Amino acid sequence: MSNPSTSTSRSSRSDITAELRAAGCVFAEDEARLLEAAARTPDELHDMVARRIAGLPLEHVLGWAEFAGRRVVVEPGVFVPRRRTEFLVEQAAALAPEGAVVMDLCCGSGAVGLALLSILSRIELHATDVDPAATRCARRNLAGRGRVYEGDLYQPLPRELRARVDVLVANAPYVPTDAIATMPPEARVFEPAVALDGGADGLEVLRRIVADAPSWLAPSGHLLIETSAGQSTDAVAEFVRAGLKASAVSSDEFEATVVIGTRTDQSPSDDSGPAGGRAG
Ligand SMILES: C[S@@+](CC[C@H](N)C(=O)[O-])C[C@H]1O[C@@H](n2cnc3c(N)ncnc32)[C@H](O)[C@@H]1O
Repeated sequence: MSNPSTSTSRSSRSDITAELRAAGCVFAEDEARLLEAAARTPDELHDMVARRIAGLPLEHVLGWAEFAGRRVVVEPGVFVPRRRTEFLVEQAAALAPEGAVVMDLCCGSGAVGLALLSILSRIELHATDVDPAATRCARRNLAGRGRVYEGDLYQPLPRELRARVDVLVANAPYVPTDAIATMPPEARVFEPAVALDGGADGLEVLRRIVADAPSWLAPSGHLLIETSAGQSTDAVAEFVRAGLKASAVSSDEFEATVVIGTRTDQSPSDDSGPAGGRAG
């Protein structure tokens, strides 16, 4: 004979699965299991299922996303880290020397920096984002193991970091403005435009990052930026224009492309510019 409490939970799990499936969730069974595990009360479960059915990304309902084998806190309104970005992490980790100074520009939830902290034994991590919701998440995720700054690209960073960064990593917005309308509602509706919109060709933020990167990179330091495969040729040209030696690498496994540049003796390293701001 079955245990009554088990059969109740099974039947509610199957009801939830059916509701999620009817709402178009492809992995309804997995989602039902995760929601059930996350909810502390039946009311909370009901509320979470309702929010998911209304279209909120699963990660925003749960409050976390899985990235590079870890749970990363993701509050509603903050970009959900994508699995493809694990390729950026892999490439950056491979280039970081022992004790590297690492800068994660456009850090969002801080997922990239957190993954690097777990791979590399000892790094000095600095992460920045313009969105207060993102920096709040990054501070929670990095929990004092990296400094988090809020502001436009390099603007909030302390100038003492100039010419000291061994690995500068960025998954900045790179969706062309017109393509945002074609994205799934989970992204288009529930992630902020500032996290997605890369301007007319998707490369506007990348251009600004690349142009100033040589002055922050240490001699032989590396700049790594995720792009789409179709953008990589133009992106490499931007790196070269800034005086960096550059090439693109792609992964079939992650369906991802990363442009990697290296500061050479010829790269300009002007250290003028605004001094830094708040960190926490
Ligand atoms: C595509 S999301 C990536 C977030 C994170 N790197 C990740 O992979 O999960 C881009 C992030 O860039 C931030 N961002 C956009 N424009 C920015 C700017 N001018 N300065 C700093 N951050 C910016 C957004 O707030 C968003 O968190």
